[in-house]
Parts: sequence; structure tokens; C-alpha cells
Amino acid sequence: MIIRTVKGLTFDDVLLAPRRSPIRSRSQVDVSTRLTNTLRLAIPILSANMDTVTEWRMATAMARAGGLGILHRFMTIEQQVKQVTKVKRAQGLMVENPYTVAASASVAEAEQLMTQHEVGGLIVVDGNKKLVGLVTRRDLLLAPDTVQTVAQAMTPADHIVTVGPSVTSAEARELLYSHRLEKLPVVDREGNVVGLITSRDVVRVEHRSTASVDARGRLLVGAAIGVGPGEVKRAAALLEAGADVLVLDIAHGHADHCIAMVRQLRHDFPEAQLVAGNVATAEGARDLAEAGADAIKVGIGPGSICTTRIVTGFGVPQLTAIMDAVRGLREAGLTTPVIADGGIKSSGDLVKALAAGADTVMIGSLFAGCEEAPGAPVIRDGQKVKVIRGMASLGAAIGRRAAEQGDESAEDQEDWDKVVPEGVEAVVPYRGEVAEILHQLVGGLRSGLSYGGAHTIEELQQTAEFIEITSAGVRESGPHDVRKL
Ligand code: XMP
Repeated sequence: MIIRTVKGLTFDDVLLAPRRSPIRSRSQVDVSTRLTNTLRLAIPILSANMDTVTEWRMATAMARAGGLGILHRFMTIEQQVKQVTKVKRAQGLMVENPYTVAASASVAEAEQLMTQHEVGGLIVVDGNKKLVGLVTRRDLLLAPDTVQTVAQAMTPADHIVTVGPSVTSAEARELLYSHRLEKLPVVDREGNVVGLITSRDVVRVEHRSTASVDARGRLLVGAAIGVGPGEVKRAAALLEAGADVLVLDIAHGHADHCIAMVRQLRHDFPEAQLVAGNVATAEGARDLAEAGADAIKVGIGPGSICTTRIVTGFGVPQLTAIMDAVRGLREAGLTTPVIADGGIKSSGDLVKALAAGADTVMIGSLFAGCEEAPGAPVIRDGQKVKVIRGMASLGAAIGRRAAEQGDESAEDQEDWDKVVPEGVEAVVPYRGEVAEILHQLVGGLRSGLSYGGAHTIEELQQTAEFIEITSAGVRESGPHDVRKL
């Protein structure tokens, strides 16, 4: 038996000492970060894979803001695949189902359609959606009166440059530029028109630099998986649907079966970006990274709705857990990034987590009250609130069984009093759109970097100096000796 006498610390136990700063304005700092060694995000924030936090609406909003949502796994494979697809369809390089016209239509009809839909061109298709030509306003502008039909005015298919559905924005840019084109119809293998890329779309995708997008301009999305028997199948289906990151998420990630699963996933899907967790020690982080994880999720028991520490006696205060995990990785010569998961109550905690060595943070309860979180708000004691539940709570266990069996009466089927929950169900205030909260968090982070004299998160990590504070220091840190409005 060992007793470690160096204190385990969490966010409220410390402050960061301000440093001389060359930064004059918050706009001079860069808050981008790495999620894995190959995937960067404009902001270092993920929404938690909890069924009261992240489904497709939250994931879409998170990626639009430059972060990432991790879809929870407490649904069937088909349902989770559908969620991934919804995020991937929300925005992209190509316009799906572009406006079309028949070759036999009159020029006047084509003009009227372009005006109605406010577009500068129409794809000409036959009755089977096969590409026949392209007609633009410019084609019609100077056409003589003898040109009466679209067939006469259009550029025919054999003169049109087309691309396949998996074209990247760089490839589209090159084709549009080298052929001096404005529009690229997207055609599948059978010759069916499935989309349209315009030069404006390419510019939009490339310039909306803060959104998290893939090479095709679609929003990034992560999805959680477990270690059970069907989970390799789930991983394959999610990747096939376009998930950009898989998060192997179990309560005690430093377990032989979790390490074995990381190895198997690494072997089966060598290209996939794979996050694994949760762990709270140097050895846990190192073992998962050595098994092949691309990022390590750290946090045993810091979450707002967690009772793991009370029920089991296990856990490590979160600031120490982050520092230990990072140290374990670096001492083993590994550059694997760390995700600090749980316990973030404010932008100050976010800054502290990053300064301690985390590259990103994962947030549950702060986002559970958002409009985009699953479930509708309810009124409790005159206040608008939303529900959050720990994924190891009794309510989540019942909900999970009901979802797996597609049966609402799961509550009656199981001897639920034998379950030992490690989480609670609670309510949080309704907080409006997640973009607002992200704005506050990122604003606080920018200020934090300027107090730390750091232009980037990496610089903050290199120079941060923490000071342990007393309970009097904690009291002094919040509003005090005033009556809050
Ligand atoms: P916050 O503090 O942001 O934490 O709400 C979110 C994280 O909490 C973890 N989580 C749990 N931990 N029992 C636990 O011990 C649970 O039932 C539970 N549910 C979620 C999870 O890591 C999440 O991201």
C-alpha cells in the first residue's frame, strides 16, 4: 500500500500568476489547438458524449463555432449513424440537390426559375437526373431571338468539367481556376447529378476558417463507442458514415479490455482518429497512447453529475490528473494530446486546464442547458431549466435499456435496485444558444492568455506558474462582501 502525500489539486485549489505580457489586445492571441496530432480545432472545446448534451444539433453548433461535438453512444448503431449523417449534411462544399431544368424548357422558363431561386445557373438534366448540360444567365443574356429552348442555349454535357462527390475544396479550386469556370456539377459514377460546386462555395469554405470542417467543407463530428461485442461494428459504421473522430469512452479506461480494444481499432482502422479514456494517471495515459490512441481523455470523477469518487473511493483531483497524464506521456516520449474531461465551471477553469497541459477540454453541464442540447426546457420553481444526467446514473441506465430494446417499459422489466449508480440526474438553468456560452468561454481564454503573456496555448503551457491557494484565497477570488443582484 502506498500513500502519496503530495496533495492532489483541482481547479479551485490554484490560481495562475500573471506574467509580463507583450499582448495589447485579445485579438493578438491564437486559441487554436490540436485535438490529435493530425486534427486541429480553432477553439479548444468539445461537448461531452452524454445523452443530455450531444446529439446532432449540438455537434453541428459546436463544429460551426470551431470546436467539436462528440455524439453519445446510447442509441442503436443505425440511430448514431443517422446522427453523424445529419451533421455531415449540415454544411458542405457542394450544394446538394441543385436546381435543375429540362432541355425542352423554354428560355423564359429558365430565366424565371433562376430569378425565383436567386441563382445564376441551372443544371440541365434528363428525366433520369443524368447530366445533359448547364445553362447560366450569361448564356441567356446575349442569345438571339432564334434561341428559344434551354437545349439551344446551354453548354452541352460533353463540354462541361464535372467532379465526383468526394472532391476536396483544393481540387475543386484548382479545376475552377485552371478552366476559368464558375460552376462544377457533381456527378456520381452512374452519371447522375448529385450536387453543384460554385467558386463562391470554395471561397466560403476556405474563408470560414473558424468552423471545424473536413477537406470537403463538411462539419467535423466525433462519435463515442464502447468496448462491448458489437462495438467494432459500430466503429466501422460510424467511420463509413463520415465520423471524423471515434471516442472509445468507458468509465475506467485504464483496463485491459479497453487497451485491447484500442489495439484492435488501431489495427482494423489504421487511418481513424481515435480518442480513448477515461484515465487519471500517468500510467493510464501512457498505456492507452502506446496501444494506439491519438488523444487521451482524462477525468475520473470531476464531472458535475459524477458520484464515482463517493461510490468507489477512486479518483484524482482534476488538475493533478491532467498534469500526471501529460507527464506520463511526455516521459514515455509520446506527443499524444490530452483532453481534460469534466469539472469545467468557468472560463478560468478552462484556462487552468490548458495551462496544466491539456490541449482541449470536454464540457457537459455547462452545455446541458443550451437550446441545442437534447430535450426540451421545463419550468421548475418558476425558472426555465433543462435536465442533465450522469451516464452512469440510474435514469441513464433505464433510458439506455429502453433505447437498446426499443421498449419504453424497461423500467418495469429490470430489478433496478440492484444497479449501483455512479452519477446523478439534475437540472441546470436554460442557457440559450451554445454559441453564446462559447463566446464567453473563448473570450475568457483570450484574456487568460494575455494575463499569461502567451500568444498561444502552447506558450501558456510552457510558462504557466500555478500558485496553490487557501480557502481564504478561494473566498477572495469570487464576489465577496457585497450582496449579489
Ligand atoms: P461536466 O463537469 O462538464 O463533466 O458536467 C462532464 C463529464 O462527466 C463524466 N460523466 C460521468 N462521470 N458518472 C461519472 O462518474 C457519470 O454518471 C457520468 N456521466 C458523465 C463524463 O466524462 C463527462 O464528459
